[in-house]
Amino acid sequence: MCGIIGYLGPRNATSIILNGLRRLEYRGYDSAGIAILSNDGIHVTRAVGKLSNLESRLQQGGDSPPFATRDAPHSMGIGHTRWATHGGVTEHNAHPHLNDAGTIAVIQNGIIENFIELKGELQAEGIRFRSETDTEVIPHLVDLYMKAGMPFVRAAFAAIVRLQGSNAVVMMSAQEPDKLIAARLGNAGGIVIGINPDETFVASDIPGILDYTRNVIFLEDGEVAIAQAGRVSVYRLDGAPVSKQRHVIAWDPVSAEKGEYRHFMQKEIFEQARAVTDTLRGRVNFETGEVTLESLEAGVKNAEKFPARIHTVACGTSKHAGLIGKFLIERIARVPVEVDYGSEYRYRDPLIEPGLAVLGITQSGETADTLAAMSIGKARGAQVWAIVNAIGSQAERMATGVIHMRAGPEIGVCSTKTFLTSIVDQYLLACALAQRANVQTFERSNADPFSLARDLAHLPGLIGQTLKPDPIYEVLANYFHDRRHFLFLGRGINYPIALEGALKLKEISYIHAEGYPAGEMKHGPIALIDETMPVICVAVQDGVYEKMISQIEQVKARGGIVIAIATEGDGFIRQKADYVINVPAAPELLTPVLTAIPMQRLAYEMAVRLGCDVDQPRNLAKSVTVE
Ligand code: G6P
Repeated sequence: MCGIIGYLGPRNATSIILNGLRRLEYRGYDSAGIAILSNDGIHVTRAVGKLSNLESRLQQGGDSPPFATRDAPHSMGIGHTRWATHGGVTEHNAHPHLNDAGTIAVIQNGIIENFIELKGELQAEGIRFRSETDTEVIPHLVDLYMKAGMPFVRAAFAAIVRLQGSNAVVMMSAQEPDKLIAARLGNAGGIVIGINPDETFVASDIPGILDYTRNVIFLEDGEVAIAQAGRVSVYRLDGAPVSKQRHVIAWDPVSAEKGEYRHFMQKEIFEQARAVTDTLRGRVNFETGEVTLESLEAGVKNAEKFPARIHTVACGTSKHAGLIGKFLIERIARVPVEVDYGSEYRYRDPLIEPGLAVLGITQSGETADTLAAMSIGKARGAQVWAIVNAIGSQAERMATGVIHMRAGPEIGVCSTKTFLTSIVDQYLLACALAQRANVQTFERSNADPFSLARDLAHLPGLIGQTLKPDPIYEVLANYFHDRRHFLFLGRGINYPIALEGALKLKEISYIHAEGYPAGEMKHGPIALIDETMPVICVAVQDGVYEKMISQIEQVKARGGIVIAIATEGDGFIRQKADYVINVPAAPELLTPVLTAIPMQRLAYEMAVRLGCDVDQPRNLAKSVTVE
């Protein structure tokens, strides 16, 4: 996860920024850099690897006097720890990035979805790029606007408005040495701004500035801050000023970690765009669509090891992710996939034949049933792979090939961001397998594994849109929190989302809920439907949309209450359902990543309304290490 730090004030900016970056080290990174404004302009020093490398470069003089001070009453700088997304792990790809004259420095988190278009435009103006990153378009764009006569702040706004996707951006200009500009677009990267009477801090995460201040504001999607020493003005992208509420972060480390959120689950739901950005980082070349899964490379590249079939083994939420993965891997890579509960697989004497890969999906990497199922595969000669969040866990150690979820720490017992990231991992796996095998998929034009991988560039942005504030969740929780039964229906790739929706609700609000493939409703659950029964239907505009509409009509005909999760702009479904929760339009194979989010948000609101212990629901554990 990229880390961002900025400082403007009387203290030494270099040491404050380095300390902030150190506080964010736990999120992981592969290179780091810092830009300091000095009397003679901006000085940038960057280094691949650990922060200690950057520090020694600075001590050796770096690209400039290391602890440069200015005659001005304050010192200013920005720093960044990078996880590579666009372009390899090299010094010239590390942030900050500069314009040609080196007068504007920029750091960024996230993916600029339209960077190819912007880069082309800038290259046509004769601008030469020094890195392979998407970030570098920003300083050049700002520069272009400044050359056209705009002052820095206006030029920065004009450039920020042109960025598509979910991003957090911080920049400074040598021409306006008293301002840092920070922007948050979408939800892939947060921005917190700490304010003391004579100094201002900017960071991607609270721990980065906690040593210095507890008074903070958080930027929302589409807000830009102009930070000066000791004061901050915030505007929307259209220039309208926003009045921000100041928060005081409590001293205890747990509340500090939760930041602006009430519960870890809520925080984890809202950091999913960012988690997915991390999952994608460095794995997709968004220009060619090629997917590289380094830790699986050996297995996937070697033709003999290309699996003839896959057995996915998992428990709970991870099992539901596996069911979506079956759909993805079969559809994209045409490799047959069977999905089983770890607890069943281990006792059913599974058919393990040559060419089989057993894929364990587990956020904790310690679930006893999943580990037992994986070890059966291993003992009988299958290659064993793991999709896992916890680094160094048993599942990771047992597997020969690993794909990390990179969701970051998940504290809430109820899995949220590990669900989304494990779906994305399987999407990547499916594309990687298809690309290596040159699979002729049944709908080549729609399922070309290179263009499917390129679709992923839009995913953090789409997740961000799905996380926008929406009063519908509170409305539904207020109306329905006293119901004792819910039915969840979905079909096709969104059928496992119905299972996951029911699981979320029962786990944290203790309401009985069942998830069903919609076509099965007529074989039993339909008998339960009456005017007291809320039925949540995933009915996005995909290949089974009409089928879902007819299920909705059947529920309505029996007096049931329909809450539809539908594609934004679908006016037709509004005439059919009682309530509609919108998700943005997306390529069909990515829709479950979005439809999962309303399930999480709804379950969360219900549990809060019922006063349940959201983060630690009764009788449940985050890691189930016993049978
Ligand atoms: C527990 C957790 C669930 C999780 C399941 C599987 O029941 O409460 O959230 O889905 O274990 O965990 P795993 O770590 O294997 O994904």
